[in-house]
Amino acid sequence: MRVLVTGGAGFIGSNFIRHLLSDRPECEIINFDKLTYAGNLENLTDVEDNPRYHFVRGDVAMRAELEPVFKEKIWGIVHFAAESHVDRSLYSPLTFVETNVFGTGNLLDLALRHKVERFVHISTDEVYGSTSSGKFTEASRLNPTSPYSASKASSDLLALAYFKSFALPLVVDRCTNNFGPYQFPEKLIPLFVTNALEDKPLPVYGDGLYVRDWLFVADHCRAIEKMLFEGRPGEIYNVGGSNELTNLDITRRILARLRKPESLITHVADRPGHDRRYALDASKLERELGWKSRRSLEEALDLTIDWYVNNRSWWQKVKSGEYQQYYQKNYGVRLGSAKDAV
Ligand code: NAD
Ligand code: DAU
Repeated sequence: MRVLVTGGAGFIGSNFIRHLLSDRPECEIINFDKLTYAGNLENLTDVEDNPRYHFVRGDVAMRAELEPVFKEKIWGIVHFAAESHVDRSLYSPLTFVETNVFGTGNLLDLALRHKVERFVHISTDEVYGSTSSGKFTEASRLNPTSPYSASKASSDLLALAYFKSFALPLVVDRCTNNFGPYQFPEKLIPLFVTNALEDKPLPVYGDGLYVRDWLFVADHCRAIEKMLFEGRPGEIYNVGGSNELTNLDITRRILARLRKPESLITHVADRPGHDRRYALDASKLERELGWKSRRSLEEALDLTIDWYVNNRSWWQKVKSGEYQQYYQKNYGVRLGSAKDAV
């Protein structure tokens, strides 16, 4: 049973590949990834020699690079590949359109032509926009605000159109903020943990009272597996951790765990168009597929912080650009730069 995972060298994708290889011995995985600044093969060194794992470097937006993957029968696709960082979308919106919209279109089209039997499109809670009260259900109106979330909403609707128009058997996963091992240190939790470990300031945007719902990546991976094997074609599933916290709250928890002073908190200029609060009603996933998060926020956050404490060389290489230089020297491939991300 061959599963194509796009963007598998990134944060959630690499966690998912590890999860699927261990949980589903019948699955063989092709990881198709462009290796942008966010793609890192060191996220997968423990599985690179597994005979059921294969890596192909390529760009989902380039049909000529993607098409050869379909020469062998692909049973299912889990589509993570995307430009994923909101701040970057404010500087380079069209890169987001190219990968997130055009790249997804290419993949959907090839999936249809090659009669792929299962397709999970990884979308985001950001497609609903912000709300001051209540929670979004799968039926809520889409109201994206950043170029990132608008590009994700576009690809999400395109995916649903391939179900409605052509009966491509797909499901859409709209999930909240993931956290865990191997997250690129441009996102709040890994950036703040690694900055605190280096006694550097933690740049809190605006008043820090923005609210996110935090989802442990291992719990999300189990949800994706359920959607892949048991999801009803054409359905959307919200995935959330039911862990709403303000950015200041989560920052203080990080500092307390690391025994670092709150004086490291530095309020900086706000993100333009910053969404105040995301909140999802994820009861459909529990009701229909029996999914529940397993780890409490406290436990998962401690595990995550400890992972960064114990894996300094991973994030130091990523932050300094050393990983990218090594890859270029040994494989002759120029990767995106991580340096300007932090
Ligand atoms: P990430 O930035 O860590 O990884 C993205 C991966 O996609 C990288 O390996 C990168 O090299 C690859 N990629 C980028 N452009 C590509 C292209 N054109 N062709 C092939 N590969 C390409 O992202 P992540 O945090 O792991 O997010 C994965 C998916 O989940 C994304 O679709 C994102 O929108 C969605 N999502 C993420 C979160 C979160 O909190 N991280 C929450 C909701 C949804
Ligand atoms: O909600 C799901 C989304 O979560 C995903 O679709 C995105 O791919 C993912 O990047 C994430 O988006 P956010 O913008 O919510 O995540 P980020 O970690 O960038 O920011 C989390 C919150 O912290 C947000 O309110 C902005 C704030 N922040 C972030 C950074 C990087 C700061 O205050 N300072 C920072 O330096």
